[in-house]
This record gives sequence, structure tokens and C-alpha cells, in this order.
Amino acid sequence: MPETDEIALTVKNLKKHFGGIKAVDGCSFEIPKGKISGLIGPNGSGKTTTFNLMTGVLEADSGEVIYNGENIVNLRPYRIFNKGISRTFQITRIYREMTVFENMLSVSSLRVPEREARAMAEHLMEFVTLTNLRGEYGGNLSYGQQKLLEFARALMTDPDIILLDEPAAGVNRTLLRSLLDHIHYLQEEEGKTIVIVEHDMNVIMNHCEKIFVMDYGVKIAEGPPEEIQNDENVIEAYFGRK
Ligand SMILES: Nc1ncnc2c1ncn2[C@@H]1O[C@H](COP(=O)(O)OP(=O)(O)OP(=O)(O)O)[C@@H](O)[C@H]1O
Ligand SMILES: [Mg+2]
Repeated sequence: MPETDEIALTVKNLKKHFGGIKAVDGCSFEIPKGKISGLIGPNGSGKTTTFNLMTGVLEADSGEVIYNGENIVNLRPYRIFNKGISRTFQITRIYREMTVFENMLSVSSLRVPEREARAMAEHLMEFVTLTNLRGEYGGNLSYGQQKLLEFARALMTDPDIILLDEPAAGVNRTLLRSLLDHIHYLQEEEGKTIVIVEHDMNVIMNHCEKIFVMDYGVKIAEGPPEEIQNDENVIEAYFGRK
């Protein structure tokens, strides 16, 4: 893939409050196209809320999310999904009472013929090595396998942008290695844009080209890993608090 400095998605002055809590308080950033970025910050700093606003899961109080020249903020989730932005959830949302294969086909807004959807599901199960578990119920999978399944399902629409909310949490080393390999494959071979919210600093520092740091609902720093590791505001946000 050629090197570009293109922007995949622009977040502009996004705001969301819950009662008195300003979860996202005027957050702006530009996600580089075709790269793996990280979104980090202490617990409760507004990362998941930001993802929810970017994907229409929550309605923003104000602000914009610009994708392909269009403000997509507050569109319904399925519309944003159909435009090519897909995600996984911090707490996985697979169906425990459906099989792996059924879970893959459960993407409700998929607008392709069933034969195509099935072929895509087969391909993606193979991709994340879940084919041998295709008939297993979601609820019987290990936690890590459930995360892989959700990841694979998020790819069913062949999205341009993939947002991953804590993909590494609770996943064993072997599955994590496999997940990271897949993420790199998508970026390098298919030119996908990927954003990872993650507390595992090894994942963030070793796999993301650019990192955005949030604290109290705003971006406090952005840059490559080397810079972020030595940024005083970031160190203060993580360690400077009583
Ligand atoms: N639905 C909600 N109702 C009320 N408050 C909420 C809701 N969702 C999030 N919050 C609050 O908004 C703030 C930001 O939460 P958010 O989940 O976005 O943080 P986060 O950065 O993802 O944290 P973590 O790393 O723990 O997942 C927190 O104070 C949280 O308690
Ligand atoms: Mg979160």
C-alpha cells in the first residue's frame, strides 16, 4: 500500500454529557487513513463514549464526525455501518445461543445476497481460525474466541474503518498474537484504517503508528509511540493522580 497522509475520519469538537458528567467534552482528532491508530486514556476518560458517538450508538450533544466529506454524526448505527465503519464492543455482543456461523450471518443490515454472505462468513471464519468451531454455540466459546468472533463479524461488510474497543482485554497470549496478526494483515494487505482502544500498553506502543490520548473527555496528546511515552501530560494523566 502506498504511503499517504490522507485522513480517514475527522472528529470535530465532539461533546456528550450524562447528567453532570461530561464524558466527551469537546474532543477533536483526525484519524490517518490506512494506518493503525491507538486511542488511550485512563478509565472513564471517554474513549468508549467517543466510539459510541462515532458509530451512532449514542447521540452527540454537539460536534461533527466527518467521513468522506459528509458529517455522519447522529446518523443511525446501521447507516454508519453501511457506509463502511465497523466496530467491536468492550463487552462483546455476540449471540450466546447462536452458533459461530449463525453469529457471522447475524449482521442485520448486510445488503448482499445470502450466498455471498455465506461465502464471506466462511472466508472470515477461516481468517480467524474459527472454522472448526462453526457449529459451536457462542456461549460455549472461550472469552478470547468470542472476541475473535466479534472481530470477524465486524468484517462482514468489508468496512474501510474498523474500531476495536479493548480487543486484548482478557484474551490469552496466543489468541492475542493471532488477533494482532490479523489486524496488521488488514492494514498492510487491504489498506484498512484501524483504531484500537486499549489499556495494554504493549499492544498500543508496539502496534500503533499514531496514538491519541484522552483525559476527562478531551484529547491531551497525539503523536507516535516514542513521543507519547515521554509526554508529560500523558504521564501526569496516568500516574500523577492521587
Ligand atoms: N451510559 C452512561 N450513563 C452515564 N454515565 C456514563 C455512561 N457511559 C459512560 N458514562 C460515564 O462517562 C465517562 C466516560 O466513560 P467511557 O466509558 O467513555 O470511558 P472509557 O475511557 O471508555 O473508560 P474505560 O477505560 O474504563 O473503558 C465515565 O465517567 C463514565 O462513568
Ligand atoms: Mg471503555
